[in-house]
Amino acid sequence: MTDRLESGWASGASARGRVVEGDNLELLRSLPDGCIDLVYADPPFNTGRRRASARLRTTRSADGDRTGFGGRRYRTVMGETRGFDDRFDDYAGFLEPRISEIRRVLAPHGSLYLHLDFREAHATKLLLDHIFGPEAFLNEIVWAYDYGGRPKDRWPAKHDTILVYVREPGRHFFDAEAVERIPYMAPGLVSAEKVARGKLPTDVWWHTIVPTAGNERTGYPAQKPLGILRRIVSASSAPGAWVLDPFAGSGTTGVACLELGRRFLLVDESPAAIEVMRTRLPEEHGIAFERLNPSTLGPREGSDRNRRPG
Ligand SMILES: C[S@@+](CC[C@H](N)C(=O)[O-])C[C@H]1O[C@@H](n2cnc3c(N)ncnc32)[C@H](O)[C@@H]1O
Repeated sequence: MTDRLESGWASGASARGRVVEGDNLELLRSLPDGCIDLVYADPPFNTGRRRASARLRTTRSADGDRTGFGGRRYRTVMGETRGFDDRFDDYAGFLEPRISEIRRVLAPHGSLYLHLDFREAHATKLLLDHIFGPEAFLNEIVWAYDYGGRPKDRWPAKHDTILVYVREPGRHFFDAEAVERIPYMAPGLVSAEKVARGKLPTDVWWHTIVPTAGNERTGYPAQKPLGILRRIVSASSAPGAWVLDPFAGSGTTGVACLELGRRFLLVDESPAAIEVMRTRLPEEHGIAFERLNPSTLGPREGSDRNRRPG
C-alpha cells in the first residue's frame, strides 16, 4: 500500500507528508480509488458564525504600553485574525460529495473518523449510513471535556461526537494493542496486575481540550488535542500507512503521524491554516507544501481514476 500515492500529483521528492492548500473536494476527486488507509475529518461544525481568534503582536514604540527586555517600550497591537467560515445553508449538501469521495479513496481495510458536535451529529449519521451502509458503522465515540461556560437553562454541552465507519465491514484495521492504556476509574475493583497495565479506553474518551497556555496551542480556532489524534492514528492505521485529513486546520493529524511514523496528506483551503502548519510541520522533516493546481492533479474522471492502485 505504501507507494500508491506516488503517482500523479503526489509524485515528488517527499513521501513523508504533504500539505495542500485548496478545496478538499477537488483534491479528493483527483486521488485514485483505495489509496488511503485512514481518514480523520474535522469539518466546520456549522456553528452559524465565523470561527476566529485574534493574535496579539507587539511592536517597538516609545510610548508603548509595555516594557520589555532592556527597558524598551512596546505597543500591543491586535494582529490579523486566523479562522474560517462556519456558516452553511446546506450542511448535508456540503458534506455529501466529500464523504462519498472519502469512501472511494479508502482502502478495503480503511476507516473514516468524522468529528462533529451536537449540531449535526444526528443528521450526518444518517448520511453516513446512506453512503457507507449501516453495516459499515463501527463506533460512536464521545469525546468529553470540561471547559468553558455553563448555561443555566440546560445541561452544559461538553462533548463532541466522532463517528467511525469502515470501508469494508469485517476487514478493517484495528490494533487495540497499539492504543495507550488509561488508568482504571475504580482501581480497587480490579487486580494489581490489571491496575499496573491500565485499561483499554472505551468509546467515551475523557480528554482535556488543548490547554489555553502551553506548547501545543497554536491559536488556530477549533484546534483538536494531539492526544485524541494519537489514539485514532495508533489504533486505526499501521506504521507507514497513509493518513488523510481533508480539513486539516492547524495540522494536528500531521503532528500525530510524524510522531507515530505514519505518512500524511493534509488539505485546507485557508491560507491561515497553511501558515500554522508551516510552523508546526517544518519542511526539514521531509514535508512538502503545495497549492492545489489542476495541472498537477492526478487521475481524473474519464482517465484511470477508477483503477485499483497496486
Ligand atoms: C474545525 S477546523 C479543523 C481543525 C483541526 N482538526 C485542528 O486540529 O486544527 C476545520 C477546517 O476545515 C477547513 N475547511 C473548510 N472547508 C474546507 C474545504 N472545502 N476544503 C478544505 N478545507 C476546508 C477550514 O479552513 C478549517 O481550517
